[in-house]
Amino acid sequence: MKVGVLTGGGDCPGLNAVIRAVVRRGRQHYEDEIFGFLDGWRGVVENDYRLLDRRALRGALPRGGTILGTSRFNPFKVDGGVEAVKKTFQDNQLDALIAIGGEGTLSCTNSMFQLGLPVVGVPKTIDNDVDLTERTFGFDTAVSIATEAIDRLHTTAESHDRIMVVEVMGRHVGHIATWAGIAGGATVTLIPEEPFDIVRVCESIERRHQAGRYASIVVVAEGAKPIDGTLEVPEDTFDEFGHIRLGGISQIVADEIENRTGYETRVTILGHVQRGGSPTPYDRVLSTRFGIAAIDAVHDGAWGDMVALQSDKITLVKLQDAVKQLKFVDPQLWATAQNFFP
Ligand code: F6P
Repeated sequence: MKVGVLTGGGDCPGLNAVIRAVVRRGRQHYEDEIFGFLDGWRGVVENDYRLLDRRALRGALPRGGTILGTSRFNPFKVDGGVEAVKKTFQDNQLDALIAIGGEGTLSCTNSMFQLGLPVVGVPKTIDNDVDLTERTFGFDTAVSIATEAIDRLHTTAESHDRIMVVEVMGRHVGHIATWAGIAGGATVTLIPEEPFDIVRVCESIERRHQAGRYASIVVVAEGAKPIDGTLEVPEDTFDEFGHIRLGGISQIVADEIENRTGYETRVTILGHVQRGGSPTPYDRVLSTRFGIAAIDAVHDGAWGDMVALQSDKITLVKLQDAVKQLKFVDPQLWATAQNFFP
């Protein structure tokens, strides 16, 4: 078969491991020709690709980023975009396309399926917010990086009796914040799912200080929001997929903490450090399993499906079901985290 593969949306550790698995099994087991489209859907619209063989993937397993490049390009938002995608399929006699991406890329892939194109999705995002899969690769790496950063911030916070506000990624969901907050022993964790009360945040910190601890870590997901009307926050802006672009909530929280409690407060924004570099062993294995399952799904003609992890087994779900809503932090896990907020 002639099979295309693309990586769309924000990059994520483990993308190369997925591509490697697709190419390895596709070439060796099925004798496929694999077209690697460059920069996500842009490469499909502009018929910009490179053929991938085993050699092209040499050394790719532990490498972060994506050898194919990525973008948030949306073919539905450019004139003639969808027709250009269909033409690329025809011109190359493509039998299938594997799209590796987060909710934006997967929604676009689902729309292509609705138009009759033979596509299969692979969920990726450090945010872990794609529904119907227990994990997306990249999440474990991001949590490891965030936890290590928090561990390091603890010692400098304690030396200076300071509050350290740490901003982690997570536009709409607080998976990274919740996991890193628990793993890193945060005093307070703020997530988008649970609008926060700055008065309560400050009370928690003060209670901890009254109990004789003079340093605190506050983990803030970038999409954390105050309860309506309690704090002024800047207007959101949007990207091509209609995604909110955020940033800056941690500084607002830090300023409020310092002003209200008088405790010296510093901010660390981990940002794209969480997305860069080598995937953890867990993410390498999950990416590899997803890649193998995706090329097998292509050969089973499972169009419109997405590979997923459920009960630690790889399975297939419908893309249209997976993109209906985001996967939010499990209330049971959030309740666990709250046991440690004073
Ligand atoms: O979707 C993953 C993510 O890491 C979000 O948590 C973050 O808001 C966003 O990407 C930022 O991506 P970029 O700076 O590439 O637009």
